[in-house]
Amino acid sequence: MSSIVYLVTGSNRPDGVGFNAVVALLAQSLLNHVIAAVRNPAGAEELQKIAQENERLTVVKMASDLESVKTAFNEVAGLPVVRENGIDGLLLNAGVTLSGEITASQIDTPTLLAELEGNTFGPMRVAQTFLPLLRLGKQKKIFYTSSVIGSTELAGEGAQPGGFTAYGLSKSAGNHFFKRLYNEIGKSESFTIVCYHPGYIATSMLKGGVKAGDRIGDVVFVTPEQGGKSAADNFIAGGHSGEFINEEGKNLPW
Ligand SMILES: NC(=O)c1ccc[n+]([C@@H]2O[C@H](COP(=O)([O-])OP(=O)(O)OC[C@H]3O[C@@H](n4cnc5c(N)ncnc54)[C@H](OP(=O)(O)O)[C@@H]3O)[C@@H](O)[C@H]2O)c1
Repeated sequence: MSSIVYLVTGSNRPDGVGFNAVVALLAQSLLNHVIAAVRNPAGAEELQKIAQENERLTVVKMASDLESVKTAFNEVAGLPVVRENGIDGLLLNAGVTLSGEITASQIDTPTLLAELEGNTFGPMRVAQTFLPLLRLGKQKKIFYTSSVIGSTELAGEGAQPGGFTAYGLSKSAGNHFFKRLYNEIGKSESFTIVCYHPGYIATSMLKGGVKAGDRIGDVVFVTPEQGGKSAADNFIAGGHSGEFINEEGKNLPW
């Protein structure tokens, strides 16, 4: 049987969702080959250690700018496992938040542009650039890691903190892009394109501000291992094309 090839972005941090999704994808099936994309391969020591012991993991350098994405595409396209099978799925996990405390009345353009770069433009460029390899793959799956904070209907309500304005705006813009991509190629080319909120996870994104088990209202933070495993499980399970879902597979309002 041929390999199933997945590419996961932002997978260098052992206490992050991406790294733990890579570990879970490798464990899920011996057929899975995972390409872990990171900005700084030399600094991704834990990931490199796994790659040395497991030939089903390949680490590639990729940031969010177009030149870097194109360079990574050329490297990935030349891998024997990709030449044979294309790529089955993209788990677009990389993301950034700089605006935890910044409200709508305070937000500034440089912060907004930095969050758009990491949360919107980067994932958009990766999806566009890698489409030719996805078209060669069997599963044709794109998972955009969004956030419930990107829901326009819920903006600033409920368990959502009052800050995170630029973050919410950039994830909302990403949702819009991936919903459009779904309408363009979802049905006509049998692509599965999902906007995915991974739950609330105690990673370094929140700058040590929370730990697993902490609550904000009804929301309970889980460990990076749990967040990565459920991202991998939902990604593998597929379905929900054209939808915005959470880690339980439930629909979220756009
Ligand atoms: N944690 C949560 O509760 C939560 C909730 C909802 C949604 N999410 C989303 O889930 C995803 C993973 O979050 P996390 O908590 O695991 O975050 P994290 O630990 O902060 O990891 C973020 C990853 O994204 C990479 N990254 C950031 N900016 C990038 C850029 N411009 N180009 C390429 N890579 C970039 C980082 O690379 P470096 O190490 O090189 O900086 C890192 O690998 C993100 O998209 C996040 O928005 C998280």
